[in-house]
Amino acid sequence: MRVLTGIQPSGDLHIGNYFGSIKQMVDAQVKGDTFAFIANYHAMSSGNGGEKLAKLTMQTATDFLSLGIDPNKSTFWVQSDVKEVLELYWILSAFTPMGLLERAHSYKDKTAKGISANHSLFSYPVLMAADILLYSPDIVPVGKDQIQHVEIARDIATKFNNEYGDILKLPEFKVEESVQTVPGTDGQKMSKSYKNTVNIFGEEKKQLKTIKKIITENVPMEEPKEYEECNVYNMAKLFLNANELLELQERYKKGGEGHGHFKLYLADVMWEYFREYREKRDYYLNNQHEVRDILRAGAQKASNIAQPKMEVIRQATGILY
Ligand code: ADP
Ligand code: TRP
Repeated sequence: MRVLTGIQPSGDLHIGNYFGSIKQMVDAQVKGDTFAFIANYHAMSSGNGGEKLAKLTMQTATDFLSLGIDPNKSTFWVQSDVKEVLELYWILSAFTPMGLLERAHSYKDKTAKGISANHSLFSYPVLMAADILLYSPDIVPVGKDQIQHVEIARDIATKFNNEYGDILKLPEFKVEESVQTVPGTDGQKMSKSYKNTVNIFGEEKKQLKTIKKIITENVPMEEPKEYEECNVYNMAKLFLNANELLELQERYKKGGEGHGHFKLYLADVMWEYFREYREKRDYYLNNQHEVRDILRAGAQKASNIAQPKMEVIRQATGILY
């Protein structure tokens, strides 16, 4: 069963990204069946470009490899290294009614937030449809905000197939319902846009400073403390096994320690949890050519699927003459 995921290169990853999406992706890798690419063309639609985009692309590749994307299992590449996607994007545009794009939430949301309404932002779902349909996945795992994009890909594929026969495979989306929302330092959903993130790969001192900012109840040191609604506890539990969790609950119930102690504990367990990933990342940062080699080999594997697929599409649409 082929699974395909696109990753926006959007900067420093936080623990919400890790527990909400990256960990699932890493755990679900199946040799030969997992496809993951860095959506650098997509990033241009919200204004990223130039040296910044190039850096973000390498940073994202480095971070995902460090966190466990395994190039021996997954086909991992950068979107722009397989140009067929742009050709398919144009062909699919001819099967995309304007109304379909005008109804897309993401365009409406982004322009409402003040991102300028350029054409790439508007036609983003068509490029995403090309990403998907070029590789014929069975499943596209997505967050709730991306469901509509997979539905648009299905609509476009249906229109295309009605004209030219059963060429494009209709993908299914999968939303991971069990994924919990990781709280940020202010208790809202952790998100870059709320500036409440705890990043995975920060400097140790800076991380401690961020963790110290987590909002907690004001309870005197000696008194017992509530843990279920506590932002520190809810972050710490992501890193703990069942026994460690019980021990932490006991510490809350017993009293005698303040939230400051629990914050130090959280900083420690988090630092340990990511130690191995950090070491791997340091290695890749010192050997960026290895990251480039992995991406190049991934692009070759992706091309081996994209090229024959495009041949069929060119033939059917009369682009081959
Ligand atoms: P951000 O909100 O920081 O911009 P993104 O929208 O880039 O994060 O999210 C990338 C992935 O990480 C998505 O799959 C999203 O569902 C997941 N994710 C982001 N924040 C959280 C969170 N607080 N809890 C769980 N998952 C999250
Ligand atoms: N739009 C997706 C996001 O913002 C990224 C993406 C681009 C994608 N192309 C894709 C995801 C194809 C799945 C399949 O997160």
